[in-house]
Amino acid sequence: MEKSEIIELLKENPAETGLFKKADEVRKKYVGDDIYLRGLIEFSNICHRNCLYCGLRRDNKIIHRYLMSDDEIFETAVLAKKLGYTSIVFQSGEPLSFNIKKFLELLKRIKNETGLVITLSMGELKKEDYLLLKEAGASRYLMRFETSDRNLYSYLKPDSKYERRFECLSWLRELGFEVGSGIMVGLPGQSIESIADDIMLFDKLKIDMIGIGPFISNPETPLKNFNNNNFELAIKTLAVTRIVCPKSNIPATSAMEALDDNGREKALMAGANVIMPNITPYNFKDKYILYPGKSIFDEPYEYSVYLRNLIEKLGRKWGKGPGNSRVKEGL
Ligand code: 5AD
Ligand code: SF4
Repeated sequence: MEKSEIIELLKENPAETGLFKKADEVRKKYVGDDIYLRGLIEFSNICHRNCLYCGLRRDNKIIHRYLMSDDEIFETAVLAKKLGYTSIVFQSGEPLSFNIKKFLELLKRIKNETGLVITLSMGELKKEDYLLLKEAGASRYLMRFETSDRNLYSYLKPDSKYERRFECLSWLRELGFEVGSGIMVGLPGQSIESIADDIMLFDKLKIDMIGIGPFISNPETPLKNFNNNNFELAIKTLAVTRIVCPKSNIPATSAMEALDDNGREKALMAGANVIMPNITPYNFKDKYILYPGKSIFDEPYEYSVYLRNLIEKLGRKWGKGPGNSRVKEGL
């Protein structure tokens, strides 16, 4: 698709362009009816960065910082397996110092004992560390570039380097990870043109899993006064992304659900084929507040039943395999 067509679809009324229906057809044709479920464990909220939009930023002194113990992490991985999830995502802030040796041992133990596909989302690390994590059993890595607009990136992430982000993504690719990335939609100062650039970049970088969520203003951050009215544009962005990147895995993100009670369902009907249910234990989940409205009360088992029913209601199937990337496999 030309950039001008992407911009038009993002600007126009989806009821008139038939965007969601088209995206749903493309989803069905290229990735089928299976919906893959990946258990999300937010194992630490410690972060040394100060991103303007995020509740985990280091200047947010009101949250209590935690690192789950090895046993707590292990038990949560076992829970993912019991719930029938085939993959598990370990997410954290970006720690300044971190006992990687200990973490590698834990990953090996989880991989050996559960056989789950392991995905990591821990931000920018050294290339050597990515390699060690890969060798310990992680096979996928998620790291959103957030926006392809260089100036906006520097404003939002004052202590991060734009080039470094993309360098990390290319190392991950080189090391053989399935690479996930993504953006927030509705960021202060983000134009429709720049969202179109983001979508074209997903395609250019052959991103295996593309996470798209609305920006949600967090009262504990410097962006507290910006508007939160970004659901519609975010779901249009998801739908256009499905058409431009037909084979990628695209999750119906929690941020969609935070802004609209039926947000996940709407995303699943507009091109999404993955869900990452949060299975972080309750006493940690309430401290991992990236943005307000993030549901923290769902009990993991009850939520898995809710999802099973939702998938059935939509006439879709629960993906039983690992849900490997069709981009990477060239299927
Ligand atoms: N609104 C929406 N998404 C956010 N994230 C962080 N803070 C916010 C916010 N205020 C997203 C970022 C990050 C992911 C883990 O959560 O895109 O990459
Ligand atoms: Fe830290 Fe990531 Fe939040 Fe930035 S977006 S403050 S790196 S957790």
